[in-house]
Amino acid sequence: MESKLSSVVGSGNAAATASGQEYVSRNPARLDDVVARVQLSGPEALRAAAKDSKSAQREWAQVPAPVRGRVIASLGRIVEANKESFARLVTREIGKPYAEALGEVQEIIDTCDFFLGEGRRMYGQTVPSEMPDKQLFTFRMPIGVATVITAGNFPVAVPSWYLVPALLCGNAVVWKPAEYAASCARAFAEMIWRAGVPKGVLNLVYADGESTFEGLEGALQDGTVNKVGFTGSSAVGSKVGELAGRYAQSACLELGGKNPMIIAKDADLDLAVEGALFSGWGTAGQRCTSLGNIIVHRDIHEEFVRRLDEALRVAKVGEPTGEILYGPMLDQKFADGFEKVLGWIQPHHTVLGSETTGRITKSAPRAGFQGDPEAGLFYHPVLVDGVRTDDELFMQETFGPIVGVTTFEDLDEGIEIADKPGYGLSASIYTTNPANAFRFRERIGAGMLSVNNSTSGAEAHLPFGGNGKSGNGSRQSGIWVLDQFTRWQSLNWDFSGKLQKAQMDVATVEPDLGYRLPPELGGQA
Ligand code: UN1
Repeated sequence: MESKLSSVVGSGNAAATASGQEYVSRNPARLDDVVARVQLSGPEALRAAAKDSKSAQREWAQVPAPVRGRVIASLGRIVEANKESFARLVTREIGKPYAEALGEVQEIIDTCDFFLGEGRRMYGQTVPSEMPDKQLFTFRMPIGVATVITAGNFPVAVPSWYLVPALLCGNAVVWKPAEYAASCARAFAEMIWRAGVPKGVLNLVYADGESTFEGLEGALQDGTVNKVGFTGSSAVGSKVGELAGRYAQSACLELGGKNPMIIAKDADLDLAVEGALFSGWGTAGQRCTSLGNIIVHRDIHEEFVRRLDEALRVAKVGEPTGEILYGPMLDQKFADGFEKVLGWIQPHHTVLGSETTGRITKSAPRAGFQGDPEAGLFYHPVLVDGVRTDDELFMQETFGPIVGVTTFEDLDEGIEIADKPGYGLSASIYTTNPANAFRFRERIGAGMLSVNNSTSGAEAHLPFGGNGKSGNGSRQSGIWVLDQFTRWQSLNWDFSGKLQKAQMDVATVEPDLGYRLPPELGGQA
């Protein structure tokens, strides 16, 4: 069944601002299966949505925070009741294996479970004044309107990290999801509205990148956007950050990664192989937390690569409704991007993991493939040994089922190599020596670290975010994201009946700074 979708701005569909362009969202595992025909909006939709949601936001902010928390609780229950069908839609629209799609939906439920209580914990502080008969306070205030632009590799879980806390904190949201995940976005928005969030408080805008950028700039000019959330590539993220900065607004940026895995000499190799397989090739390498570079100790390099190659050759690839390691690329644009990445393989590399590289077809088959490879965007997994640290393959994010291997001798050198690409989202180490783990934690540049676990698999209540090219230091999830969607307001209240001037009318206590301990109390005679 295919659906027809268009933007939902305010209380109605934004047909009036349609750009006239249609995007066809297809099942990437079966390209003849059209999931949705999406009427894209022009730049005006995003601008109008930000403008119109201001009054809806004011009303929403009047709803007591604990009551907004109840709305989030209801959302969690609605999502839970629709878990299987929602996960099936995720699998159909972006090709994520069903087991992972269930995990994705669970991540929304976890996020709701966490934030429902935050509605009763929107604490401010009472703070002592430096003067008598005066009291100071702090309050967390909603920021106003947030424009949130998200990717489609986690089409609903990662958006929930923005939407759930933003709405809980009393903001309005203009959400621009990835076009190729349009149905997933609409399904999630429907559940948010059914939980009790008014339509004008959550707006859904379908637009291409150019219209989004133009619309966002217009809204920033209007002064109607108070926060920009962006999940996507580092290249686009820096442009979004620059644009927001020009209008003195801050962006919450969650960008790419080239996530390293260090395998120490004392590592449990089978465990490391399992972790590398899941984070390197799971979701066809299309997580921002996917493994990018394996940095393995020289003495165990050969054995590790042998075991990983063996595991990769028997890994199941195919139709994502089945039990497989990974399915298709998310969308044609990602297949095209991956073709380009395959061109980074050099004569000094050794290609392992498959009989060949590129698209899986009848003439370039993969043993054990499940389903019809020619029906969708399926690619052979690639393991590249002999990668040098100045290779493009080492330095750039690949966003596909390919991982490179390089070696190190001493741990400090390994850590330095790991950070060289300049990203800093997630990093992992496999070691049985706690000293190695602590040294790694202290020196590595990433925002999210794992010891004896893969680079992906972040839990919904720990801070999520990166450094360097992976982000501007903003963090999502858990209590930390509250600082993205609220601003501190301070209040000073004087009940002395006179004007008490800070710093000037402050009573002082004079100390005897010249005092030195006498001999009987240990001082010098
Ligand atoms: C992302 O890739 O954009 O840690 C988010 C993980 C998931 C989230 C990834 N929980 O792999």
